Amino acid sequence: KAPRVAIVGATGAVGNTLIGLIEQRGLRYRDMRLVASARSAGTELTVDGVAYPVQAVDEFDFSEVDLAFFSAGTEASEKWVPKATAAGAVVIDNTIAYRMDPDTPLVVPQVNAHELDRRPKSGVIANPNCSTIPLVRLLKGVEERWGIRQAVVSTYQAASGLGHPGVEELQDASRASLDHPEEAYPNKEFTPSLAFNVIPKIDRFLDSGFTLEEQKMLQESRKILGIPHLDVTTTCVRVPVVNGHSEAVWIETQGVVDRTELVETLAALPEVTVHDRESPREFPTPATIDDRDQVHVGRVRVNPNNPRAFWLWLVADNLTIGAALNAIQIAEELIARETL
Ligand code: A2P
Repeated sequence: KAPRVAIVGATGAVGNTLIGLIEQRGLRYRDMRLVASARSAGTELTVDGVAYPVQAVDEFDFSEVDLAFFSAGTEASEKWVPKATAAGAVVIDNTIAYRMDPDTPLVVPQVNAHELDRRPKSGVIANPNCSTIPLVRLLKGVEERWGIRQAVVSTYQAASGLGHPGVEELQDASRASLDHPEEAYPNKEFTPSLAFNVIPKIDRFLDSGFTLEEQKMLQESRKILGIPHLDVTTTCVRVPVVNGHSEAVWIETQGVVDRTELVETLAALPEVTVHDRESPREFPTPATIDDRDQVHVGRVRVNPNNPRAFWLWLVADNLTIGAALNAIQIAEELIARETL
């Protein structure tokens, strides 16, 4: 039976992408509820040609739905997810709130869909971090064929990772710095300003000297791949791109890697496009990828001095692959398994 669905954070950047993907993929549902903060209550949004009023989360009765997507920030999830699960809904949560909870599966369907065979103890399925999702989808194929000794990753993350406010600030601050270069722009989302800049800090600093974003990539990769000692070390960098994360990935392997076999192995992974399969001069960028539902790979280079190591470049839309599409694919797996 098709589920009754709620989207919490429906007015946000990820919520908006979720609605688009529900329409595009024809997700089956028998009732739809759109939920956001009290600020948006009463505004209307359309799903599949039907207009729905946005409801305030504090007045929403979660017993009226079977499945709730949460993309309204960590604080909102901490407060409202327990109410949703207590009312009997299964939650797909896009925040950090439940990701490392042992009773909550952390799922990338192309990697560990088997985690969805049983209804989770917590009632929650966590959607991983936006940079972790495309990375583990590639690491899985490399681990199975060659074994991973270490992965070293630098990310190039877009402003839309901070939602609509992040995108607006990048655009406004860029315009202001061209029009009034002598005036400091009053940034709120990015410090220092992201306009014509790159910032090697995403989320807060930890005592280790790494940022929380960098720690998420390590811990979540280990949990999703089921390799507790996996060595993934990262530097996460915000760049002045509106949407679409990129990553430069260096992987040291147990076995000797042949480039042709590597390219074919990556290209055979589900929903992965390798751009330099035919010509080594082809590569993806956030502005030029056409299919936003694929992980795009290029610059595949085996180390000439040590064939147990290689580079690759990946680009993945952080709102689809890194958030909404992964959540929808989790929902599709749940519906197929009738675990709702
Ligand atoms: P609202 O539009 O009413 O503020 P983005 O990531 O683009 O900033 O979007 C965040 C989403 O989460 C929006 O839909 C926003 O609703 C919603 N949201 C933010 N804080 C809360 C909260 N405390 N309770 C419910 N929804 C929230």
